[in-house]
Amino acid sequence: MSLTTSSTREIPETGTIPRHIAIIMDGNGRWAKSSFLPRVAGHKRGVETVRSAIKACVERGVEYLTLFAFSSENWRRPTDEVTFLMQLFITVLEQEVAKLHENGICFKVIGDLSKFEPRIVEFIRNGEALTADNTKFTLTIAANYGGRWDIMQAVRKMLDQRPELATGFDEKDLMQYFSLNYAPEPDLFIRTGGEKRISNFLLWQLAYTELYFTDTLWPDFDARALDLAIQSYQQRERRFGRTSEQLQMASGTNGREIVATRMA
Ligand code: IPE
Ligand code: IPE
Ligand code: MG
Repeated sequence: MSLTTSSTREIPETGTIPRHIAIIMDGNGRWAKSSFLPRVAGHKRGVETVRSAIKACVERGVEYLTLFAFSSENWRRPTDEVTFLMQLFITVLEQEVAKLHENGICFKVIGDLSKFEPRIVEFIRNGEALTADNTKFTLTIAANYGGRWDIMQAVRKMLDQRPELATGFDEKDLMQYFSLNYAPEPDLFIRTGGEKRISNFLLWQLAYTELYFTDTLWPDFDARALDLAIQSYQQRERRFGRTSEQLQMASGTNGREIVATRMA
């Protein structure tokens, strides 16, 4: 079997703390409803959870946090809610980008920004430029993001820049054009709010990610809830296609390399 196009050819290093956590922050509306508040109050409260989640991830040694803030499908919501979410996004950006920079955090936004007002796009690009050299922690906000959009835009960009690849390309060629090309693939995916679906989030990158679903609504997702997710992650055996026995044989030695060599 040829493994030249397999994601499993390079087995990533895995540790007890996930390097990269990706979260679908769901349940704001239901949280608000349960307190007899308008849905938008849930979104406002959700921003506070974002702050605490960033802090908790930094403290635990996570290096990348990717948050799904607005999907390419969320435009289907009532106009008032979409307008509120856009305004909230701008307000939060204005308040937080300088603070992220002070804390040594690199800030990125992924998604189709062509639908956003030019002043938002400019603000985002300025924030990304300001924080580009920060290496301690990378916060990515997925806004007007869709996993299918990402794959499509990557293919288009690749063929536009390297037309010779139209006759053949591999994963490595394509991966450079994904909007999350600067980050390792997520180790842990969390979805709050009880739904058990990916909702067009990182379709390509979640191929070998450990999935964790919790009924906790996003505004209630505190550091303790994050620790529960990390504990669940720590109990998983990440096999990347191998057998449990292979992993046991390899542990404590340079087995990772042995297996990788055998596969190549
Ligand atoms: C997630 O919460 C936030 C966004 C999608 C912007 P929801 O608004 O989807 O909350 P529920 O799922 O209706 O409770
Ligand atoms: C997914 O939540 C998108 C975000 C959290 C930004 P949704 O609430 O929009 O997902 P569905 O519609 O229930 O799948
Ligand atoms: Mg929802």
